[in-house]
Amino acid sequence: MESPFKPDILRGKVALLTGGGSGIGFELSTQFGKHGASVAIMGRRRNVINDAVSVLQSLGIPAVGFEGDVRKPEDARRVVEATVDKFGKLDILVNAAAGNFLVAAEDLSPNGFKTVMDIDSVGTFTMCHEALKYLKRGGPGKDPSTGGFILNISATLHYTASWYQIHVSAAKSAVDSLTRSLALEWGTDYDIRVNGIAPGPIGDTTGLSKLRPKEINSGVAQSVPLYKVGEKWDIAMAAIYLASVAGKYINGTTLIVDGGLWLSQPRHVPKEAVQQLSRTVEKRSRAEPAGIPASKL
Ligand code: COA
Repeated sequence: MESPFKPDILRGKVALLTGGGSGIGFELSTQFGKHGASVAIMGRRRNVINDAVSVLQSLGIPAVGFEGDVRKPEDARRVVEATVDKFGKLDILVNAAAGNFLVAAEDLSPNGFKTVMDIDSVGTFTMCHEALKYLKRGGPGKDPSTGGFILNISATLHYTASWYQIHVSAAKSAVDSLTRSLALEWGTDYDIRVNGIAPGPIGDTTGLSKLRPKEINSGVAQSVPLYKVGEKWDIAMAAIYLASVAGKYINGTTLIVDGGLWLSQPRHVPKEAVQQLSRTVEKRSRAEPAGIPASKL
């Protein structure tokens, strides 16, 4: 689908995306590039990174890939510095690297829990921490009047509770908390905006295939108020909105892009029956005595 944004809306920006070589991260890399940004992607799998960079470059996007694990502080530092070495500065950091699997809480080892916390929550903080000196207003190579932007990819699982996702729910809760705290501290001190996106079920992603594997994928679309799963494009457009000048006063928000799924619950009364039922209830209510109950003495 064609973008509604002008193709130069991110012109001159340099973006580093963790998990930028696959899934939602790769769509963000592609769309940021198509809208004028230079793109660095970080991921654990060399072949995935190489393939992604080839595709980006074939689209005419200045792109570079770095192998690295957000759980390793030395990788985070090396990749942030290599991005600045390559493109001269850093304007946008996207934390899209994540880990997930379905598991009942009682079957999840503490190390399994920690693994996802380390990737999603600690990894996000580590990347933000390493990028700070480059993202802040007046950072190396940057326009002295402009601060940077951080986007944390989150989820909606923790807004209520989700089956077999205790580790990811905890990790994404922490990510949302990081988004708010950094928006406050780094917005105030360094003119860095920090926001998040909470995607719902997005087609053709590892996340969806892990959480709703085809063996149990009985009509996820039917549970979404908009009756469809989202596209990676939907997340990318939300990201461009937040990262661009269009979002210049948005700070500390996690934008839900889920078709309304997290609000969804079964309809308890058919729509056709609501009016009649409501009138009956109202009539009964008005007929009942109101106010203080009569004394039994
Ligand atoms: N069920 C239960 N526990 C699991 C598990 C599963 N499906 N997969 C991994 N674990 C546990 C392991 O048993 C291990 O714990 P233990 O040492 O107590 O046995 C711990 O998690 C770490 O597993 P390991 O395979 O060593 O981690 P890894 O670093 O190689 O991989 C994952 C990290 C597990 C998050 C892996 O799924 C991954 O790399 N994911 C990235 C892609 C992804 O999930 N994308 C979706 C984003 S929404």
